[in-house]
Amino acid sequence: MIVLSKSSTGLFVVIEGIDGCGKTTISKRIVEKLDNMGYKTIYTFEPYTSPFSEALKRYIEEYGEAEVEIEILSMALDRFFHVRRVIEPFLNQGYIVICDRYVYSSIAYQGAKNGDIKWIKTVNRYAIKPDIAIYLRVPLEVALERLKYKQSSWSYFEKLDRLRRALEIYEELVLRGELIAVDAVADIDSVAMKCFKLIIDRIVRQK
Ligand code: TYD
Repeated sequence: MIVLSKSSTGLFVVIEGIDGCGKTTISKRIVEKLDNMGYKTIYTFEPYTSPFSEALKRYIEEYGEAEVEIEILSMALDRFFHVRRVIEPFLNQGYIVICDRYVYSSIAYQGAKNGDIKWIKTVNRYAIKPDIAIYLRVPLEVALERLKYKQSSWSYFEKLDRLRRALEIYEELVLRGELIAVDAVADIDSVAMKCFKLIIDRIVRQK
């Protein structure tokens, strides 16, 4: 097993994008490739399965659409739990952590519902900065086509207007240099390869 050389700090990689962009498939493909090269790698995701994301699910079941503030705070609590109990411990053991969605999802999705982005950043202040944050860029039509075949326990967030606005916010984050865009319309293998190269370049630079 290869543990990254910068002693006791791994590499934190985030994969973002609107529903249907292929994040989960691509993330798992990347993990496989890194694993095969001998890197200690783990796949994780948000919303994580914490008591807080479970509470949000229950809230939605009982009350229907949640207020955006409830969404923001629930996601932030879930993320705090995830960062402290999963992401940081693995990074401290020298793992490459591939995280499917992170704080950028709160900015894009809760921002799409007019959530206050400054406040989202404030309540997520503890969310450690990733080494690489990739945005899988697909046009809305492609994402919608792919979504037809996906089962999600969170389909609540996948309303068309919201996805359209989330996509715009993601593009703003790319323009501001907070996310690196990777064209994700092509086949899975070539998209995964592009992401993989970004990660390997970063590992090489870190050595
Ligand atoms: P998704 O990655 O699609 O999970 P699954 O594959 O289990 O369906 O994420 C579920 C939804 O959660 C997605 O539509 C975006 C939404 N979301 C937010 O609105 N804010 C957040 O902070 C996060 C992490 C996700």
